[in-house]
Formats: sequence, structure tokens, C-alpha cells
Amino acid sequence: SHKINIAIDGPAGAGKSTVARMVASALQYIYVDTGAMYRAVTLKALESGFSTEDNELVGRLAHEMDIVLLPGSDTQRVIVDDEDVTSRLRSLEINRNVSYVARLEGVRKRMAELQRRMAQQKGVVMDGRDIGTHVLPDAELKIFLTATPRERATRRFLELGPDADITLDQLEAEIARRDQLDQEREIAPLLQAPDARLIDSTGRTVDEVAEEIVQWGLAAT
Ligand code: C5P
Repeated sequence: SHKINIAIDGPAGAGKSTVARMVASALQYIYVDTGAMYRAVTLKALESGFSTEDNELVGRLAHEMDIVLLPGSDTQRVIVDDEDVTSRLRSLEINRNVSYVARLEGVRKRMAELQRRMAQQKGVVMDGRDIGTHVLPDAELKIFLTATPRERATRRFLELGPDADITLDQLEAEIARRDQLDQEREIAPLLQAPDARLIDSTGRTVDEVAEEIVQWGLAAT
């Protein structure tokens, strides 16, 4: 059977990355976490002392950085300029800044270019915000994965662990803010593609959701 591309988009904390990883593993496809790429650019921009609203500077940075995604057994590893930055991408500081960096035209252009290159041979499960609408509009299977804001905040809360200096309510507010920025930006906003299948994962296990997508994937190959 021939390989297809699968796009999984949706708001923060809907379970996209876990589900996408399981689907990729079941189909023996390559999982690509595009959020990690925007997080890596954000890390580099903050480290360089750049304003996260500076399209010129951060755009150039995004073009010059070397970003390599290595599929791992648990999370995908992210290597930037030969350094493994994976463990530094999920901090509150990155969470708070990433949606500003992701608004920049120069950054989005470069990320989309890299992502299309990764999907060229087909057989990828790519998760993000604009994959079905913008990066891979021809993806054979498109999913828009959501859950209630409370459920999404709870998942991220558990992911951050007991040392996180934030309450569940604060986290829910920050997630809502990030979703708003992602939905309202000018270039490639977070949006359900007209031909995407909507899945609400509230109260469902990741296994159930992944299995549903795998079946659709198999039907499309
Ligand atoms: O998926 P994750 O929460 O790691 O994404 C972090 C941020 O990266 C999103 O809130 C969004 O601002 C940006 N992003 C994007 N386009 C994508 C993936 C992520 O703008 N395809």
C-alpha cells in the first residue's frame, strides 16, 4: 500500500502530540512535531536577546539556524546547531513567548519550507496549527483535534509536573491566550480545514482517538 501524509491540527493541549506519535508508530510513519520547531526558534531568539516581535532579526535567525528533528522512542529530539535542546522547549517562558514568534512572517515561511521538505516522500504524521490549511493542503487525511479548555489545561498541568510555579486556573488562562493569538494572527492562523475531520477528545483516551485515526489512515492508503 502506498504512503499518505496525515495532518493533525488543533489548539494547545488537545493531545495532538501523543496521538500523532501513536498513529505514526502504528503505521510505521515518521512523526513531525512542528510546535517544537517554533519553540526552538523562540528559545534561540530569547537566548540571543532578540525581541520576539522583530520579524527581521528573528526571521533571519530562523533561516540561519540548523534544526534537526530526530524521531525518539518517547519524545522527538530537537537538535539546534548540533545541540540537543529538547528538554528546554517546554518551559513556561517558551510557552509565554512562542505565539509571538509564530506570528512572524519570516519565521513561518522558513518553518513551512522545512516541513514541506520533510513530508515530500510521504509517510509523515505532522502535528501543528496550520498543517492541513497551509503547510500540507494536499494531505490525504486531515484531523482537527480539540477538547474543552479545562481538559486541555489539566493535561498541560500534569505534563508540567509538581514543581511548576503555576495554578491550573492560571494555566487555563495562558492556554486561552495562546489559542487566541494563534487564531487571530494574520498568517496561517489556527483554523479547521474545510476537509478536516473534527475529533473532540474530551473524556476519551488517547488510545481510542489514535485508533480511530489509524483506521481512517488505513482506509485512505
Ligand atoms: O504544539 P505546541 O503547543 O508545542 O505549539 C507551540 C506554539 O507554536 C503554538 O502555540 C503556536 O503559536 C506555534 N505553532 C504554529 N504553527 C504550528 C505549530 C505550532 O504557529 N504548525
